[in-house]
Amino acid sequence: MNPDYLNQLINDHAVIEKALILLEKQSELGDKLNLPITKALLDVIWEFGEQCHNQREEKIYFPFLLEKGMPPQGPVAMMLSEHVSEREYIMQMKSMIEIFEATDDLPEKFKNTVIVYMDLTKNHIWKENDILYPMGRNFITAQDEAYLMDAFLKLEAETIGQGGFLRYQTLVNSLEIQSGGKIDLLASIPTSVIANMLDSIPVELSFVDADDRVRYFNKVDQEKIFTRSLSVIGRLVQQCHPQKSVHLVNQIIAEMKAGSRDSAEFWINFQNTFVHISYYAVRDSEGNYQGCTEMVHNVKPYRDLEGEKRLLE
Ligand SMILES: [Fe+2]
Ligand SMILES: [Fe+2]
Repeated sequence: MNPDYLNQLINDHAVIEKALILLEKQSELGDKLNLPITKALLDVIWEFGEQCHNQREEKIYFPFLLEKGMPPQGPVAMMLSEHVSEREYIMQMKSMIEIFEATDDLPEKFKNTVIVYMDLTKNHIWKENDILYPMGRNFITAQDEAYLMDAFLKLEAETIGQGGFLRYQTLVNSLEIQSGGKIDLLASIPTSVIANMLDSIPVELSFVDADDRVRYFNKVDQEKIFTRSLSVIGRLVQQCHPQKSVHLVNQIIAEMKAGSRDSAEFWINFQNTFVHISYYAVRDSEGNYQGCTEMVHNVKPYRDLEGEKRLLE
């Protein structure tokens, strides 16, 4: 579990990363890019990313680490110099978009500048999330954590207004929808690879759609804890459970559809295994019910684990 101040920095990065991906998408459209969306994304990157997030680091977090003993020539110096470059690129991108707005001519360098800025910022975020922030924890006590979070919120209120983080997070999510829908990480992976991916994990998955019909299960040709065969596809889920548990199935699904339940779990001794069975509501970004995922998992091997294993055998 991360302390609040660290979650804040990491969540800031998530907002910036989403804006970066959406900006890249716009830059690929050349002079067909959507001007209001592009301007709004650049505003997010400048107003939230630079004036709030980077300043949380420059004015509060980095000086604090140095004061607590982190050597000034170390990662902090590198992060500071990358912030300077980020600012330069943002200014360049903003002025190119201003030229486009005034003349209808998008400077040729725009797409390239977006790529260079993105590479720099993605790497920067990776270095902070994976190296600097974990390293920084060694210099920060539990009391410092509360001080840092408090200082972050004060800076947020001073720069982008109280509740600014949530406002920009909501804005980026709405720009994502306006840009053509939620970022689809699966779009570039063939369905056959996705199927193999779902078959590779030691968990039995099935999916029941919003009309209660079974639409998918993994490990079709593999041995499973609970037998499933292809003829189950298209059947009502109520017809796939023993009569004595149908009332439970109906209750879970009704509560998920009503929005009063997101998951349900059971565990049983079954033959020589200890089986964990869980159900998760699948919803779209507006919270509409799209179906239910069932996960069946023999957790006996995990319950038997002791100590730690950190090396590959
Ligand atoms: Fe940074
Ligand atoms: Fe950062």
